[in-house]
Amino acid sequence: MFNLEGRKALITGASGGIGKEIAKVLIEHNAEVCISGRNIEELNALKESLGKKCFIVACDLSKKEEIVELVKKSDDLLGHIDILINNAGITKDNIFLRMSENEWKDVLSVNLNSTFSILKLITKGMVKRKYGRIINISSIVGVTGGIGQVNYSASKAGLIGLTKSLSQEIATRNITVNCIAPGFIETPMTEKLDLKRKDAIISSIPMNRIGTPKDLSSAIIFLASQESSYITGQTLHINGGLYMN
Ligand SMILES: NC(=O)c1ccc[n+]([C@@H]2O[C@H](COP(=O)([O-])OP(=O)(O)OC[C@H]3O[C@@H](n4cnc5c(N)ncnc54)[C@H](O)[C@@H]3O)[C@@H](O)[C@H]2O)c1
Repeated sequence: MFNLEGRKALITGASGGIGKEIAKVLIEHNAEVCISGRNIEELNALKESLGKKCFIVACDLSKKEEIVELVKKSDDLLGHIDILINNAGITKDNIFLRMSENEWKDVLSVNLNSTFSILKLITKGMVKRKYGRIINISSIVGVTGGIGQVNYSASKAGLIGLTKSLSQEIATRNITVNCIAPGFIETPMTEKLDLKRKDAIISSIPMNRIGTPKDLSSAIIFLASQESSYITGQTLHINGGLYMN
Protein backbone atom coordinates (compact mmCIF):
# COMPACT_ATOMS: atom_id res chain seq x y z
CA MET A 1 0.00 0.00 0.00
CA PHE A 2 2.74 2.51 0.93
CA ASN A 3 5.54 3.09 -1.52
CA LEU A 4 8.85 4.66 -0.50
CA GLU A 5 10.35 4.54 -4.00
CA GLY A 6 12.94 7.32 -4.35
CA ARG A 7 13.07 7.93 -0.60
CA LYS A 8 16.39 7.73 1.25
CA ALA A 9 16.51 6.59 4.84
CA LEU A 10 19.10 6.50 7.61
CA ILE A 11 18.52 4.15 10.52
CA THR A 12 20.64 3.94 13.64
CA GLY A 13 20.93 0.77 15.71
CA ALA A 14 20.28 -1.33 12.61
CA SER A 15 22.34 -4.24 13.92
CA GLY A 16 19.83 -4.76 16.74
CA GLY A 17 16.55 -6.64 16.86
CA ILE A 18 14.18 -3.78 16.06
CA GLY A 19 16.62 -1.95 13.77
CA LYS A 20 17.08 -4.96 11.49
CA GLU A 21 13.33 -5.29 11.02
CA ILE A 22 12.99 -1.56 10.29
CA ALA A 23 15.76 -1.73 7.66
CA LYS A 24 14.13 -4.79 6.08
CA VAL A 25 10.66 -3.31 5.89
CA LEU A 26 11.91 0.04 4.51
CA ILE A 27 13.69 -1.81 1.70
CA GLU A 28 10.65 -4.02 1.07
CA HIS A 29 8.78 -0.75 0.49
CA ASN A 30 11.44 0.38 -2.02
CA ALA A 31 13.43 2.92 0.03
CA GLU A 32 17.22 3.14 -0.19
CA VAL A 33 18.61 2.65 3.29
CA CYS A 34 21.81 3.45 5.14
CA ILE A 35 22.13 1.07 8.07
CA SER A 36 24.23 2.12 11.01
CA GLY A 37 25.30 0.44 14.23
CA ARG A 38 28.35 -0.68 16.14
CA ASN A 39 28.38 -4.36 15.23
CA ILE A 40 29.95 -4.48 11.77
CA GLU A 41 29.53 -8.28 11.33
CA GLU A 42 25.79 -7.97 11.98
CA LEU A 43 25.60 -5.01 9.57
CA ASN A 44 27.46 -6.94 6.86
CA ALA A 45 25.15 -9.94 7.27
CA LEU A 46 22.12 -7.64 7.09
CA LYS A 47 23.39 -5.95 3.94
CA GLU A 48 23.97 -9.37 2.43
CA SER A 49 20.30 -10.21 2.91
CA LEU A 50 18.96 -6.79 1.86
CA GLY A 51 20.89 -6.25 -1.36
CA LYS A 52 22.00 -3.25 -3.35
CA LYS A 53 19.59 -0.69 -1.92
CA CYS A 54 21.32 -1.09 1.43
CA PHE A 55 24.50 0.75 2.49
CA ILE A 56 26.53 0.43 5.68
CA VAL A 57 28.03 3.14 7.86
CA ALA A 58 29.38 1.92 11.20
CA CYS A 59 29.26 4.45 14.02
CA ASP A 60 29.62 4.73 17.77
CA LEU A 61 26.98 7.26 18.70
CA SER A 62 28.63 8.07 22.00
CA LYS A 63 31.35 9.85 19.98
CA LYS A 64 30.42 13.20 18.45
CA GLU A 65 33.09 12.98 15.71
CA GLU A 66 31.68 9.61 14.58
CA ILE A 67 28.19 11.10 14.38
CA VAL A 68 29.51 13.84 12.08
CA GLU A 69 31.15 11.15 9.90
CA LEU A 70 27.97 9.04 9.94
CA VAL A 71 25.87 11.86 8.54
CA LYS A 72 28.51 12.89 6.01
CA LYS A 73 29.01 9.32 4.71
CA SER A 74 25.26 8.65 4.61
CA ASP A 75 24.73 11.85 2.62
CA ASP A 76 27.52 10.83 0.22
CA LEU A 77 26.07 7.33 -0.25
CA LEU A 78 22.41 8.30 -0.53
CA GLY A 79 22.59 11.83 -1.94
CA HIS A 80 20.38 13.17 0.82
CA ILE A 81 18.19 11.87 3.66
CA ASP A 82 14.37 12.00 3.63
CA ILE A 83 13.67 9.56 6.44
CA LEU A 84 15.61 9.42 9.69
CA ILE A 85 14.94 6.70 12.23
CA ASN A 86 16.68 7.29 15.55
CA ASN A 87 16.48 3.76 16.85
CA ALA A 88 19.79 3.00 18.62
CA GLY A 89 19.46 2.63 22.35
CA ILE A 90 21.00 1.01 25.39
CA THR A 91 20.02 0.14 28.93
CA LYS A 92 22.25 0.23 32.00
CA ASP A 93 19.71 -0.62 34.68
CA ASN A 94 20.35 -0.14 38.34
CA ILE A 95 18.28 1.00 41.27
CA PHE A 96 18.60 4.74 41.74
CA LEU A 97 20.52 4.58 45.02
CA ARG A 98 23.19 2.48 43.33
CA MET A 99 23.16 4.10 39.91
CA SER A 100 26.54 5.60 39.02
CA GLU A 101 27.11 8.89 37.21
CA ASN A 102 28.52 6.86 34.32
CA GLU A 103 25.43 4.64 34.05
CA TRP A 104 23.36 7.82 33.88
CA LYS A 105 25.65 9.60 31.38
CA ASP A 106 26.20 6.62 29.07
CA VAL A 107 22.48 5.99 28.60
CA LEU A 108 21.64 9.66 28.13
CA SER A 109 24.53 10.00 25.70
CA VAL A 110 23.47 7.19 23.34
CA ASN A 111 19.69 7.45 23.73
CA LEU A 112 19.15 11.20 23.80
CA ASN A 113 22.24 13.33 23.17
CA SER A 114 23.18 11.50 19.99
CA THR A 115 19.65 12.05 18.66
CA PHE A 116 20.06 15.80 19.21
CA SER A 117 23.41 15.74 17.37
CA ILE A 118 22.11 13.73 14.40
CA LEU A 119 19.03 15.91 14.12
CA LYS A 120 21.16 19.08 14.12
CA LEU A 121 23.09 17.72 11.15
CA ILE A 122 20.18 16.28 9.16
CA THR A 123 17.24 18.60 9.76
CA LYS A 124 18.80 21.53 7.86
CA GLY A 125 18.78 19.57 4.59
CA MET A 126 15.18 18.47 5.16
CA VAL A 127 14.16 22.09 5.77
CA LYS A 128 15.86 23.15 2.52
CA ARG A 129 14.18 20.36 0.54
CA LYS A 130 10.86 20.93 2.37
CA TYR A 131 10.37 17.25 3.11
CA GLY A 132 11.21 14.90 5.95
CA ARG A 133 10.01 12.06 8.11
CA ILE A 134 11.71 11.70 11.48
CA ILE A 135 10.85 8.80 13.76
CA ASN A 136 12.35 8.56 17.22
CA ILE A 137 12.14 5.22 18.99
CA SER A 138 11.13 5.98 22.55
CA SER A 139 9.69 3.42 24.98
CA ILE A 140 6.69 2.69 27.16
CA VAL A 141 9.09 3.31 30.04
CA GLY A 142 9.50 6.92 28.91
CA VAL A 143 5.88 7.42 29.93
CA THR A 144 5.33 4.96 32.77
CA GLY A 145 8.82 4.98 34.34
CA GLY A 146 10.27 1.71 35.56
CA ILE A 147 12.14 0.40 38.55
CA GLY A 148 15.91 0.43 37.95
CA GLN A 149 15.51 2.60 34.88
CA VAL A 150 15.84 6.22 36.01
CA ASN A 151 18.46 6.79 33.29
CA TYR A 152 16.62 4.91 30.53
CA SER A 153 13.17 6.36 31.28
CA ALA A 154 14.58 9.90 31.46
CA SER A 155 16.24 9.42 28.06
CA LYS A 156 13.05 8.04 26.49
CA ALA A 157 10.83 10.73 28.05
CA GLY A 158 13.38 13.25 26.75
CA LEU A 159 12.85 11.93 23.23
CA ILE A 160 9.11 12.51 23.54
CA GLY A 161 9.64 16.12 24.65
CA LEU A 162 12.23 16.71 21.92
CA THR A 163 9.80 15.28 19.37
CA LYS A 164 6.95 17.55 20.43
CA SER A 165 9.10 20.71 20.39
CA LEU A 166 10.95 20.02 17.15
CA SER A 167 7.77 18.98 15.36
CA GLN A 168 6.26 22.40 16.10
CA GLU A 169 9.34 24.24 14.83
CA ILE A 170 9.50 22.52 11.45
CA ALA A 171 5.90 21.56 10.74
CA THR A 172 5.46 24.19 8.02
CA ARG A 173 8.37 22.64 6.07
CA ASN A 174 6.46 19.42 5.47
CA ILE A 175 8.64 17.59 7.99
CA THR A 176 6.96 15.37 10.54
CA VAL A 177 8.58 14.24 13.78
CA ASN A 178 6.99 11.39 15.69
CA CYS A 179 7.87 8.80 18.30
CA ILE A 180 7.10 5.14 18.43
CA ALA A 181 6.99 3.84 21.99
CA PRO A 182 7.27 0.05 22.00
CA GLY A 183 6.24 -2.00 25.02
CA PHE A 184 8.17 -5.24 25.55
CA ILE A 185 9.62 -6.56 22.30
CA GLU A 186 11.62 -9.77 21.90
CA THR A 187 15.16 -8.62 20.98
CA PRO A 188 18.71 -8.93 22.35
CA MET A 189 17.84 -5.99 24.67
CA THR A 190 15.09 -7.94 26.43
CA GLU A 191 16.88 -11.31 26.25
CA LYS A 192 18.67 -10.27 29.43
CA LEU A 193 15.44 -10.45 31.46
CA ASP A 194 15.11 -13.60 33.55
CA LEU A 195 12.23 -15.99 32.86
CA LYS A 196 10.33 -15.10 36.03
CA ARG A 197 10.34 -11.40 35.10
CA LYS A 198 9.28 -12.25 31.52
CA ASP A 199 6.35 -14.34 32.77
CA ALA A 200 5.26 -11.51 35.05
CA ILE A 201 5.41 -9.06 32.14
CA ILE A 202 3.46 -11.36 29.82
CA SER A 203 0.70 -11.84 32.38
CA SER A 204 0.29 -8.06 32.63
CA ILE A 205 -0.05 -7.59 28.85
CA PRO A 206 -3.72 -7.73 27.73
CA MET A 207 -2.66 -9.52 24.52
CA ASN A 208 -0.82 -12.03 26.70
CA ARG A 209 2.39 -12.07 24.69
CA ILE A 210 5.62 -10.15 24.27
CA GLY A 211 5.77 -8.28 20.95
CA THR A 212 8.11 -9.00 18.05
CA PRO A 213 9.97 -6.43 15.93
CA LYS A 214 7.45 -7.23 13.17
CA ASP A 215 4.68 -5.82 15.35
CA LEU A 216 6.26 -2.38 14.81
CA SER A 217 6.74 -2.61 11.03
CA SER A 218 3.48 -1.25 9.69
CA ALA A 219 3.56 1.77 12.02
CA ILE A 220 7.11 2.54 10.91
CA ILE A 221 6.19 2.38 7.25
CA PHE A 222 3.09 4.52 7.75
CA LEU A 223 4.95 7.23 9.68
CA ALA A 224 7.79 7.11 7.12
CA SER A 225 5.40 7.54 4.22
CA GLN A 226 4.01 10.56 2.38
CA GLU A 227 0.54 9.46 3.53
CA SER A 228 1.14 10.34 7.20
CA SER A 229 1.75 14.00 6.32
CA TYR A 230 -0.76 15.48 8.81
CA ILE A 231 0.50 13.52 11.83
CA THR A 232 3.28 15.16 13.81
CA GLY A 233 4.51 15.46 17.40
CA GLN A 234 2.78 12.21 18.30
CA THR A 235 3.86 9.19 20.27
CA LEU A 236 2.40 5.97 18.99
CA HIS A 237 2.30 3.27 21.65
CA ILE A 238 2.72 -0.30 20.43
CA ASN A 239 2.53 -2.57 23.42
CA GLY A 240 -0.29 -5.14 23.21
CA GLY A 241 -2.40 -2.99 25.53
CA LEU A 242 0.14 -2.85 28.38
CA TYR A 243 -0.16 0.94 28.58
CA MET A 244 -3.01 3.05 27.19
CA ASN A 245 -2.93 6.84 27.13
N1 LIG B 1 13.18 -4.37 22.92
C1 LIG B 1 12.28 -3.70 23.60
O1 LIG B 1 11.46 -4.26 24.35
C2 LIG B 1 12.20 -2.21 23.50
C3 LIG B 1 11.13 -1.57 24.12
C4 LIG B 1 11.01 -0.19 24.02
C5 LIG B 1 11.95 0.51 23.32
N2 LIG B 1 12.99 -0.13 22.73
C6 LIG B 1 13.95 0.70 22.01
O2 LIG B 1 14.07 0.23 20.70
C7 LIG B 1 15.38 0.54 20.19
C8 LIG B 1 16.01 -0.73 19.61
O3 LIG B 1 16.14 -1.66 20.65
P1 LIG B 1 16.37 -3.24 20.44
O4 LIG B 1 15.41 -3.91 21.33
O5 LIG B 1 16.41 -3.55 18.99
O6 LIG B 1 17.80 -3.36 21.11
P2 LIG B 1 19.13 -4.10 20.59
O7 LIG B 1 20.00 -4.14 21.79
O8 LIG B 1 18.79 -5.34 19.88
O9 LIG B 1 19.70 -3.06 19.53
C9 LIG B 1 20.26 -1.84 19.92
C10 LIG B 1 20.97 -1.23 18.75
O10 LIG B 1 21.57 0.01 19.18
C11 LIG B 1 22.92 0.03 18.77
N3 LIG B 1 23.76 0.80 19.69
C12 LIG B 1 23.88 0.65 21.03
N4 LIG B 1 24.83 1.50 21.49
C13 LIG B 1 25.30 2.17 20.42
C14 LIG B 1 26.28 3.17 20.23
N5 LIG B 1 27.03 3.64 21.24
N6 LIG B 1 26.52 3.61 18.98
C15 LIG B 1 25.81 3.15 17.93
N7 LIG B 1 24.86 2.21 18.03
C16 LIG B 1 24.62 1.73 19.27
C17 LIG B 1 23.37 -1.42 18.77
O11 LIG B 1 24.52 -1.57 17.94
C18 LIG B 1 22.12 -2.09 18.22
O12 LIG B 1 22.15 -2.00 16.81
C19 LIG B 1 16.15 1.11 21.38
O13 LIG B 1 16.15 2.51 21.32
C20 LIG B 1 15.35 0.64 22.57
O14 LIG B 1 15.53 1.48 23.68
C21 LIG B 1 13.14 -1.47 22.79
